[in-house]
Amino acid sequence: MSLFRRKSIAGLQAEAAGDSGLKRVLGPVNLIMLGIGAIIGTGIFVLTGTVAANNAGPAVVLSFALAGTAAIFAALCYSEFASVVPVAGSAYTYGYATLGELFAWIIGWDLVLEYALAATTVAIGWSGYLVSLFNGIGIALPPELTAPAGAIVTLADGSTVTALFNAPAMVITLLITTLLVVGIKESANVNNVIVVIKVAVVLAIIVLTVGKINPANWHPFIPANTGAREAFGASGIVAGAGVVFFAYIGFDAVSTAAQEAKNPQRDMPIGIIGSLLICTILYMIVSAIATGVVPYTELNVPDPIAKVADVAGLGWFGNIIKVGAIAGLTSVILVQMMGQTRVFYSMSKDGLLPAWVNTLHPKFRTPWITTIVVGIGVTIPAGFLTVSEAAHLVSIGTLLAFAIVSAGVLVLRIRQPDLHRPFKTPFVWFTAPMGVLSSLYLMSALPIVAWERLAIWLAIGMVIYFGYSRKHSKLAAQEGGND
Ligand code: ALA
Repeated sequence: MSLFRRKSIAGLQAEAAGDSGLKRVLGPVNLIMLGIGAIIGTGIFVLTGTVAANNAGPAVVLSFALAGTAAIFAALCYSEFASVVPVAGSAYTYGYATLGELFAWIIGWDLVLEYALAATTVAIGWSGYLVSLFNGIGIALPPELTAPAGAIVTLADGSTVTALFNAPAMVITLLITTLLVVGIKESANVNNVIVVIKVAVVLAIIVLTVGKINPANWHPFIPANTGAREAFGASGIVAGAGVVFFAYIGFDAVSTAAQEAKNPQRDMPIGIIGSLLICTILYMIVSAIATGVVPYTELNVPDPIAKVADVAGLGWFGNIIKVGAIAGLTSVILVQMMGQTRVFYSMSKDGLLPAWVNTLHPKFRTPWITTIVVGIGVTIPAGFLTVSEAAHLVSIGTLLAFAIVSAGVLVLRIRQPDLHRPFKTPFVWFTAPMGVLSSLYLMSALPIVAWERLAIWLAIGMVIYFGYSRKHSKLAAQEGGND
């Protein structure tokens, strides 16, 4: 049964209360800002258009509602865990305390798809907005160097070129890797400024374009299915929800800041649920407006929200929106890459990854080797994948983690019913199973190729676990070996 050995909650609570070296400076408002900083990104700025054009039409707003509901079930479960064991390992650590080491490994390995690959996806979205900003000020970047490898790009004169790789997406991830190595701290204040810019841009879009809605664009609200499962109709809405689910990812990054919160027991749930609710409302309004201003068939562009501004006749203001989007997307890449290094940090501390993962740079005091490895891992796919390919894989990986966390809450309720829980998931016997089922349901709507890639990724993880991690587990050593 050594595969299922667990860390004790009491031990983790002692770890959480101990001095992690991190300062406890974050209050509820900062935590909500942190959540919004990690959440609002490529999902709303790019995927809204992709899903409206390919899957749901104006009913993309229902896709957002569906995905938001699934996210809220999971967020309520995350909140309970984050209030009981407020430590930086997040879902990985919750898994270690409830379902055992094998599941913890699976979650930790799976979180690479969430954090690292989300950074890749957002970098691709970032590139789309950069190209659009340059176009807006009359500078054309070479099309063969700004799209995923093999993509056929149509030029203004109607001719086509085949793209080599997406250079801006690779450049931004390398720049952020460098920043993380030299130790730019994602200080609460910097994040707050970016969040204010980002939310201001979203609010500006809402206020300035709501009057330009042409209700005819909302008819038909649910375009008829065209034959393929994911192309419109009710099944298209569900498929779209699987994709826009990406837009909600990030609230769980709040839980990785648990050791920097002043009063984590009370404020983790506030940060997680508060940031998610605010974003859900913004997303539904923006997606409704976008399809009301621009016919959904025209939204399949790399910068759909800028297109909304253009069609609404906002002129130069469109460029401000692009700058705001670029700033906002940059912070998402930064937070997701940092989240990745923190999860690897926790796994390495437990012995499941080698100790060099945590080697600090002698001068910068940052985990530089792991940051560079993550940076390379994020950069290469950024040059070659399309935003949808990457987003599908992120969504499926994250949904799997959410399903396991939701199940974990119930397991802990059964196993330790009397444990003090500062935040209790309301209606847990409904909410947690719904967290599992809604995650699995959205996973089922994702393309088969995403499932295949998930299976390959988890298989690689199993080889590493049985080849290395299991033998080096510190918990195993404490408990006297594997058998
Ligand atoms: N939720 C984040 C985004 O949409 C990952 O970019």
